[in-house]
Amino acid sequence: MIHTAVLKKEVLEYLDPKQKENFVDCTIGEGGHTEDILKRNGPEGKVLGIDLDPQQISASQWLEAIFKDRIVLVNDSYTNLTEIIERRNFGPVNGILLDLGMSSAQLAAAHKGFSFQIDQGLDMRYNDETGYLTAEKIVNDWPEEKIEEILKDYGEEKFAKKIAKNIVEHRKLGRIKSTFQLIEIIKDATPSAYWRGKIHYATRTFQALRIAVNDELENIKKVLPQAISILAPEGRLAVISFHSLEDRIIKNFLANESKKGIIKILTKKPITASRDELGKNPRARSAKLRVAVKL
Ligand SMILES: C[S@@+](CC[C@H](N)C(=O)[O-])C[C@H]1O[C@@H](n2cnc3c(N)ncnc32)[C@H](O)[C@@H]1O
Repeated sequence: MIHTAVLKKEVLEYLDPKQKENFVDCTIGEGGHTEDILKRNGPEGKVLGIDLDPQQISASQWLEAIFKDRIVLVNDSYTNLTEIIERRNFGPVNGILLDLGMSSAQLAAAHKGFSFQIDQGLDMRYNDETGYLTAEKIVNDWPEEKIEEILKDYGEEKFAKKIAKNIVEHRKLGRIKSTFQLIEIIKDATPSAYWRGKIHYATRTFQALRIAVNDELENIKKVLPQAISILAPEGRLAVISFHSLEDRIIKNFLANESKKGIIKILTKKPITASRDELGKNPRARSAKLRVAVKL
């Protein structure tokens, strides 16, 4: 397995799977969290695992060999959660997990263009059959102000203005097509001190493009109300986010539902990774887990 699931112990503690209970893993990835759940909710409890990326569905098929018909895999977007559950007649649902963003396997995938360490086409779609917007379209066709805005908002990139301007300058000479081309443009737009920073100087631009291509913030807004409405009474919702904008959406949504008396928030402050986990998995450094229970 390439991907190391984050906050595994904490997710299991809060989801607290019991025999016969059913769970939905909206972002199954390589199945790290789902395996933990299936080890607890047998012999009858099931997990419905969803992923938008068909390759991630293939990467989680090893679960079928072990857990047989207790794992159901669906290649779809979690934004269609209600429909997926109804179509499969899956339930009652006692817990739902969302582990947002991208997995290490996707970062390493040769064709997606998520990584700034491999020279690839600028794609960044989780599913290249369903999405139409690509990172290439954004950098070549969007107006400078819109590029600057996503770099600022989704990437929290302090050199957003300079990078956006340089992208627009370069595309006058011909379409920007590859990750390495874009990286050179970012390098050229930023001061040399920035190239020696803790994180790679292209990290924030790449993150911003990925979020924009996949409409990740809107997706979260779409799935959260569905998740709450699907949960059975006493069902738990656990959401792991990696970005302050994602976390704000989740926090505000849960606060509102709690005010309405529909849920109770179990994590006053978001749970973050222990020092031990951070030592082993740097990807956990920005992970925040929020959990609520349906009343
Ligand atoms: C951080 S990984 C999940 C890792 C997983 N928890 C594990 O233990 O291996 C996030 C996953 O969410 C998927 N994803 C992103 N957007 C999605 C969407 N709208 N619907 C379903 N899956 C999505 C990605 O393809 C990726 O596999």
